Amino acid sequence: MMNSLTIRRPDDWHLHLRDGAMLAGVLPETTRHFARAIVMPNLIPPVVTSQDAAAYRERILAALPAGADFTPLMTLYLTEETDPADVAAAHASGLITAVKLYPAGATTNSASGVTDFDKVRGVLERMAEIGCPLCVHGEVVDPEIDIFDREAVFIDRVLDPIRRATPGLRVVMEHLTTADGVQYVRDSDGGLGATITTHHLIITRNHLLVGGIKPHYYCLPVAKRARHRDALVGAATGGDARFFLGTDSAPHTDPAKESACGCAGIFSSTNTLSCLAEVFEREGALDRLEAFASLNGPAFYSLPPNEETITLTKGLPVAYPETIETGAGPVTVFDPGFPLHWAVDE
Ligand code: DOR
Ligand code: ZN
Repeated sequence: MMNSLTIRRPDDWHLHLRDGAMLAGVLPETTRHFARAIVMPNLIPPVVTSQDAAAYRERILAALPAGADFTPLMTLYLTEETDPADVAAAHASGLITAVKLYPAGATTNSASGVTDFDKVRGVLERMAEIGCPLCVHGEVVDPEIDIFDREAVFIDRVLDPIRRATPGLRVVMEHLTTADGVQYVRDSDGGLGATITTHHLIITRNHLLVGGIKPHYYCLPVAKRARHRDALVGAATGGDARFFLGTDSAPHTDPAKESACGCAGIFSSTNTLSCLAEVFEREGALDRLEAFASLNGPAFYSLPPNEETITLTKGLPVAYPETIETGAGPVTVFDPGFPLHWAVDE
């Protein structure tokens, strides 16, 4: 039996850091374990121009805990007004790593997202030319479509047409939640990757809805039934390099979650690696955790993997805080619902 696992230092390919007091409160939870993260641009107002991204990057760097070795990989929020030349310049200078597509209204702070996909065709074509990846929140917003079907319908109605119309565009399907999404990635012939969150490898919609509504398990895309969760576990642990870790750790204060209209988002930065080790161990796939958390993401983004390593050790159940205190208020940490035995050596 394995009791110790040393892997390259991981990265988080989908992370919400927010701003101000929340940023300062949650950033150490990521920098403790992760070397880099793709930082989501859905602030209020969103990060839409290269100027916005440069300023946000400076605020993140200024909030880093002393001694932290962490690189934020910035993104721009795609709007119908996005200037292809601004994207190209920001990408060429290394300021941004990707552009994020939110269908307008799909999720938290997505009001400035895209409604008419024809209006962003020029930007997408330019991104294909320069090799700038598009990170996609893949859910339709059509009120006629059931919330549990929104990812599968998005693939047919939006994603597949965009990919066919824009050959060479590199696309990351963010926070995959369905067997349909897994299959779409598996069937693709290049240029398509997908992030999978920690929580979608663990919870199903039962966690959210059985025995009372559990707002801390509410996120978007919403957790699906068990066969979808199991397909995600198969994808993450199966060794296919197109699947990699993006926690989508998304802090909201407890009052904002525990409300008659609670915010979507699960905060998992604190215990993500312990959770993942547990999931991979159950699948007999601990030897593939490094690929999922530390190698496949950099390979997709054409970046070198981190040189440093971290070691996880198995022992008595790990103590982790239920709540992180931030200057913006308390933030509940993801509860996987089972004890965690793997701890990152500090
Ligand atoms: O659960 C989510 N929270 N899903 C998203 O797409 C956005 C995120 C947030 O920003 O809170
Ligand atoms: Zn997200």
